[in-house]
Amino acid sequence: MPANGQRYNVGGLLLDRPFKIRRLGHFGLNVEKMEECREFYGDLLGFTQSDRADFSRAPWYPKDLGHGADGYFMRYGTDHHAMVLFSKQVMDHRSDRKFAPGVTINQITWQCGSLKEITDAHTYFQDHQIRIQRVGRDMPGSNWHTYVYDPDGHTTELYYGIEQIGWNQRSKPREMYYRGFQQKPELPQMSEAAELDEAQAKGVDIFSGHRPAHRLAETYDVDGVLLPRPFKITKIGPVRLFVADIDKAEAFYTRHLGFAVSEEVTYRGARCVFLRCGNEHHSVALYPQELRATLGLGEHTSCLSFGVEVANYVQLRAAVAFLKSRGVRFVDAIPPELYPGIDYAAFALDPDGHCIQLYYYMEQVGWDGRVRPAAERREVSRDWPEALEPLSDSYVDQVFQGPFG
Ligand SMILES: [Fe+2]
Repeated sequence: MPANGQRYNVGGLLLDRPFKIRRLGHFGLNVEKMEECREFYGDLLGFTQSDRADFSRAPWYPKDLGHGADGYFMRYGTDHHAMVLFSKQVMDHRSDRKFAPGVTINQITWQCGSLKEITDAHTYFQDHQIRIQRVGRDMPGSNWHTYVYDPDGHTTELYYGIEQIGWNQRSKPREMYYRGFQQKPELPQMSEAAELDEAQAKGVDIFSGHRPAHRLAETYDVDGVLLPRPFKITKIGPVRLFVADIDKAEAFYTRHLGFAVSEEVTYRGARCVFLRCGNEHHSVALYPQELRATLGLGEHTSCLSFGVEVANYVQLRAAVAFLKSRGVRFVDAIPPELYPGIDYAAFALDPDGHCIQLYYYMEQVGWDGRVRPAAERREVSRDWPEALEPLSDSYVDQVFQGPFG
């Protein structure tokens, strides 16, 4: 409970803050090698492009910069975006958003339960002197949000109601972006169904949004469906962060964002903290910056890794072999002690040098908040076996909705 004992009624439950983070919604990186990264996250990992970012109308936009795309919004399921790539060269010019030195993470974005929670979160952050970046509703994506900074300057977004892309793969047309907001919205707001009616009444072709080009040959049988790669990403996260002050970061994520500590580990003298917002063992993990040198990882980013979960263990094995065959580099510097709750995993490097953790299983934490004792965890063998014994929580979090492709 907070020091002043104040509690907030969130849908009839009394919580210590006026919102509840439910899951990691999306994640973004500022990258230098934009087209190589688009190929890596798109063609190789299988994130589909929902929309292209275009900041050319923003007042801060560098008019003289010769470059390609400003960025790409990408998805693996029906959320308009789960992974966002932005041009670092363009982002460095933003006046409405500042990235601390060494922060190449564009945003870490958490889904809350309602629009009211988002506007109440804004008030809460104001009351608690948390540095707010902005509030409103961005297009593309249509999610209502409040943005704050964590103690290390990571842009942290809380949102409700991201655009859903359905069977025809089309995103919302640009002509509907007039429903974007640059300020805190008055509540209540009209529903998305009413927005569609309104747009049609204005003469907007509601089916004219972007639909990704179908470019790659589908040659892999992925558990019964042909895809351009032998696996399917079914979930994102966890996000692993190097932080300057582990106590300060932990306090922010627990006290102000409401995360629960699942576990902490001391690795070569460094205290690392694993935090959850739902059932998964951790959705965010905090590591002291000093560990970067110990592990021999580069200094260019505060992101230790970004996780992508694939549908199953066979797909994980196939993903690693596929990516290696395409020339993707893997690192083995990150020991299993630094990712408790995950068993078989591999860390691939994107073209900018960000670590992507591929895995297929994460331990689930139930009502009593207790994690599995270390002695009862699966022993990971060096040579990955062809098949594994199931655990009590195998496939429990694999609830990907909709078709693989
Ligand atoms: Fe976002």
